[in-house]
Amino acid sequence: MINDKIEKMINEQMNFEIYSAYIYKAMGAYCDSIDLTGFANWFKIQVDEEMFHAQKMYDFLLERGGRPFFTQIAAPPKDWDSVKAAFEHALDHERIVTDRINKIMTAAIGENDHASRSFLNWFVDEQVEEEANVDSILKKLELVKESGHGIFLMDKDLAARTFTPPTAE
Ligand code: FEO
Repeated sequence: MINDKIEKMINEQMNFEIYSAYIYKAMGAYCDSIDLTGFANWFKIQVDEEMFHAQKMYDFLLERGGRPFFTQIAAPPKDWDSVKAAFEHALDHERIVTDRINKIMTAAIGENDHASRSFLNWFVDEQVEEEANVDSILKKLELVKESGHGIFLMDKDLAARTFTPPTAE
C-alpha cells in the first residue's frame, strides 16, 4: 500500500504530466498557425508521450491501493516568438520535470518505498531521453538559424515522428 506522502507526490506529478501535454498542445497549435505542420506533428506526438506518462502514474497509484485525483490545469502560453523559442521553453520545461521526478525519487528512498523507487526508475531514464530529444532539435535549430530552407527540411523530417508506446518496463 502506498503511503500518503508518496501518493500525493505522484498525484501531483500525474497532473503535471497532463499540464505538460497541455503546453505541448499549445506549442503544436502555434506551429500549425505558422504552417510548420511537421513541427506541429512533433508536438502532437509529445502530447501522446505526456498522456502516456500520466496514465502510467494513474495505473501505478491504483495498483498500490492509492487513487488518482485530478486538479485544475493552468492555461499554457498562446504564442512564442519563434519555433526556436518554443523549443527553448520545452527544454526548460523538461528540466523542471526531471527535477520533480528526482524529488519524488528522493522522497521514495527516504520512505523506504522500494516499489515506488523501482517505478520511478523508468521515469528517471525517460527524462534523460526527453531532455535529449528536445535538445537535439534545439541544436539543429541553432545550426540552421533563420534559414527558410533549413526550417523547411527540419519540418519535413519532424512530420515523420510517430508515437509507439514503450513496452519495456
Ligand atoms: Fe513526461 Fe516530457 O516528461
